[in-house]
Order: sequence, then structure tokens, then C-alpha cells
Amino acid sequence: MHSIPFLLLCLAAVSLAAPTGLFDDAYNYSGDLAKFYGKVSQYIHGSKNNGLFSTCDTSKIALPGFASNLTSPGDLKPMYVGVGRGTQNYTCADSTAKSEPKAAGAVANLYNATCIAASYPALMEIIPKIAYAIPLPQNEDSLFPPANMELMGHHFFYDSSTPEFNLDLSSKKNGIVMTKKKGELNAPKDAFKGKDGAVSWLYLTATDGTVGDYKSVYRVNTAGGSPPKTCQGLESSFTVQYAANYYFFGK
Ligand SMILES: *[C@@H]1O[C@H](CO)[C@@H](O)[C@H](O)[C@H]1NC(C)=O
Ligand SMILES: *[C@@H]1O[C@H](CO)[C@@H](O)[C@H](O)[C@H]1NC(C)=O
Ligand SMILES: *[C@@H]1O[C@H](CO)[C@@H](O)[C@H](O)[C@H]1NC(C)=O
Ligand SMILES: *[C@@H]1O[C@H](CO)[C@@H](O)[C@H](O)[C@H]1NC(C)=O
Repeated sequence: MHSIPFLLLCLAAVSLAAPTGLFDDAYNYSGDLAKFYGKVSQYIHGSKNNGLFSTCDTSKIALPGFASNLTSPGDLKPMYVGVGRGTQNYTCADSTAKSEPKAAGAVANLYNATCIAASYPALMEIIPKIAYAIPLPQNEDSLFPPANMELMGHHFFYDSSTPEFNLDLSSKKNGIVMTKKKGELNAPKDAFKGKDGAVSWLYLTATDGTVGDYKSVYRVNTAGGSPPKTCQGLESSFTVQYAANYYFFGK
């Protein structure tokens, strides 16, 4: 998935899939899409000289610089990178300004961006902003814009304190990562905030029940996902749209 024709195909798909409606008021889609095209064309240009498109070397995968204030992956090997697109869930004790929304898990599809992260890292910070503006596909076999990403698994909560990343699909089994939150960093100022802010960046470590060599997961480049400050006028449970990149490390 890293030849120039492949990328051109992606670009064609992006133009077809440009969303209309849903988040238009909250989001200037064209600005980031323009940035995405711009960077991709730089890569295409550069590839003539150094063969950027010829390999997908996962050892080249690196977390964004801002993540350096989370515990470093150290000697662990980058395994996969997924773009998560879904919702953060919250509950409210009542619908007054006196109570605050409480986090109550998350549900997201994970799309495989491993080779994009390995070969075109500068695209990674833009992808969640674009992904946020694209409604979740109803069909699990659909490729996800802006780079025709394949579904690689599902993120949800196993219980109230255990984020799970299930990378077993009927078509391919890549294991399960059960995690525990070990570190948190407020999203950077330039994060895409959606209506009420971008959720924090996270460092999660693998716990019992993990299937495979996974040791840690980082949630970075978050877009949206934070709740309103108070519960005023809100239902007892509600969801907030978000997208983020998840980096999986292992031994
Ligand atoms: C969106 O961004 C594009 C490109 O940066 C700009 O030309 C356009 O004026 C912006 N539109 C709005 C509504 O801000
Ligand atoms: C990391 O933390 C240090 C000390 O708190 C701070 O000065 C620096 O700006 C932070 N860097 C990033 C990338 O957040
Ligand atoms: C979160 O909300 C989604 C959509 O309403 C729902 O399918 C899911 O079960 C909820 N998950 C949790 C952990 O509450
Ligand atoms: C992600 O895509 C790469 C390249 O096609 C593939 O090697 C890898 O197995 C995929 N990972 C998952 C978890 O699907």
C-alpha cells in the first residue's frame, strides 16, 4: 500500500468522500484537506530521490514530539498505528449546571494507518482532524478516508477502568490489548477541539488478558471528544464525537 499509484487512488477517493453537512459548522474541512494534499504532493515529489514509497518499515514509526512528556516507549518496538473514530461516552447525575459529566468509556473503530505512520509521518497529525469530519461508515468492510484505511479492530471498554483494543477481525487475527491508564497529557493548544475540546493524550500499558506481544498503547493527536463543562440541559448519558491516533508498541 505504498506505491505512488496507490496514493493517487487514495486522493481520488478523498475527493469523492469529502463530507458535506454533518460537522460543517464546527469545522473548516477544506483547510486540513488542502494541507493533506500539499504534504502528499511533497512526498510524491521527494520519493523520486529516496524511494520513500518502496517500504513500510515499522521500525521508523515514532510518536509525535508532543508525546515526549508521556513515559517513553523505550526499547519497545512500534507494532501498529490505528486511527480511532468513534465516541467518548459520558454520564450526568442530573441535568443541572451543578453536576459535571463523568467519563463512561468509549467506542471506536480502528483503521490501519501503520504504513502511513511509517512512511509519511507528517500526515498523521492531520488525519484525525479529517477523520472527525467523516461519519463512521455503517459497513465494517468500508475503507476509511482520507487514505483508504482498512478496519484493523475495535476499541471499547471491557469494564469501567479497562480500555480494550480488540484487533481480532473475522478476516485477520492480530490479538487483543487490555490496558490500564498510566499517564495523561492535556492535548496541545493546536489540537482540533470540536465543540468542547480535544480529549487528553494517553499512555496505557498492557495488562492481564492481553493476547499478543503488546506492551503499551498511546492515544495521541486527539480531535474532539471532551464533554461540555457542566451537565446543564444534558441527558443522563450522552456521547461526544472524537478521532485520535493510537500507537501500539510491543516486545
Ligand atoms: C477554510 O479554509 C480555506 C483554506 O485555508 C480558506 O480558503 C477558507 O476561507 C476557509 N473557510 C472558512 C469558512 O473559514
Ligand atoms: C513537557 O513538560 C515540560 C515541563 O513541564 C514543559 O516545559 C514542556 O513544554 C512540555 N513539553 C511538551 C511537548 O509538552
Ligand atoms: C457508548 O455509546 C455507544 C453509542 O451510544 C454505545 O454503543 C456504547 O455501548 C457505549 N459504551 C459505553 C462503554 O458506555
Ligand atoms: C496494517 O497494515 C499493514 C500493511 O498492509 C499490515 O502489514 C498489518 O498487518 C496491518 N495491521 C493490522 C493490525 O491489521
